[in-house]
Amino acid sequence: MPRAHVAGWGKYIPQRVLTNDDLSRMVDTSDAWIVARTGIRERRIAGEEETTATMAVQAARQALEVARIGPEKVDLIIVATATPDYFFPSTACLVQKALGANRAAAFDLAAGCTGFVYALGVAAAMVESGAVQTVLVIGAETLSRITDWADRNTCVLFGDGAGAVVLRAGPDGGGILATVLGADGSGGDLLILPGGGSRHPASHRTVAERMHFIRMQGRDVFRFAVRVVPTVTRQALERSGLSLDDVALFIPHQANGRIIESVVRDVKLPPGKVYSNLERYGNTSAASIPIALCEAVEKERLKPGDVVVCVGFGAGLTWGATVLRWTYPQPAPVPVWRRFLRRLRYALAALRSWLRRLWWRVFFVGRG
Ligand code: UT7
Repeated sequence: MPRAHVAGWGKYIPQRVLTNDDLSRMVDTSDAWIVARTGIRERRIAGEEETTATMAVQAARQALEVARIGPEKVDLIIVATATPDYFFPSTACLVQKALGANRAAAFDLAAGCTGFVYALGVAAAMVESGAVQTVLVIGAETLSRITDWADRNTCVLFGDGAGAVVLRAGPDGGGILATVLGADGSGGDLLILPGGGSRHPASHRTVAERMHFIRMQGRDVFRFAVRVVPTVTRQALERSGLSLDDVALFIPHQANGRIIESVVRDVKLPPGKVYSNLERYGNTSAASIPIALCEAVEKERLKPGDVVVCVGFGAGLTWGATVLRWTYPQPAPVPVWRRFLRRLRYALAALRSWLRRLWWRVFFVGRG
């Protein structure tokens, strides 16, 4: 059976930094409280022109570059996000257009902060079935647009960013070895964006009642996380036939440093085997694991043969774990001419998309 190997990786982090001190001037909080209760020191905020799709495209381009493949080779694009550009078209279709990935099917996946792990599971199953060869899996979020900047319970936690991997079919023994996914909808109201959907369509009332912002019962989500993460980690390792001793790197969803510490104590992992970048980016939801994975490779914390465990949890409630064996080495630097060709290709993709839009208008609208 073919396996889904991680052949490329990329990330995009917006420029603007929002520190805890900045937040203490916006709401009744302090750097000391935020650091002690969450481990977060700063987070990144998307610029006015940036959206989930634009950040996803940047991360995806980097991942394709590392994998040394062109966008025309991609069979499927999955974007895990809770903050799509629109309800429809999907953010994945916006990415498909921007990349010029003309052969690719594209869809979004909503599983809160577990979205990337869910997307990896779906993509791996499709690769293993032989349905697809190459998948772009992206986790991207612009949480700053749904954060209530007057609510100190939530606004100190979240940040923006995107991470992407290219999965390619490869031999058994490496790549994604096991996935465990779970959900418990009875906890849906613990972490919710109440307004804007078919239950509470946007109206003056939903805006006045701040229903277009994240609402969270932090303490309950915390208790859920420290219970579910060790369990799903053990289940996924068991399914892969490996043990904790085999794990080279553990990448948990970056939500709260105290959750990570509790999990590490529970599963008895040496802290040196845990990757965390929470203090710099905060909680970027579905983007947190791919950003961390990408950083870990860039910092040479992963080499071919290493076993990595990624564990997510979040809104739904949902949870999931992936066990994978790293197989691809760090790529050699990309020559300048090649980078130029790639840029040219993306510019042509944009032109092509513009021409196609023109074609739709002239051909169909003109006859309507
Ligand atoms: O990505 C997926 C899901 N999200 C999570 O994983 C979040 C999980 N939960 C958490 O990370 C934590 O529950 C929080 C960081 C959200 C809150 O930490 P906590 O230790 O659970 O605090 P708490 O909610 O129990 O609140 C303790 C006190 C309260 O004051 P009183 O009622 O004891 O007087 C809060 O009002 O801390 C207060 N508080 C704050 N104080 C200063 C809450 N937020 C803040 C703040 N600054 N930003």
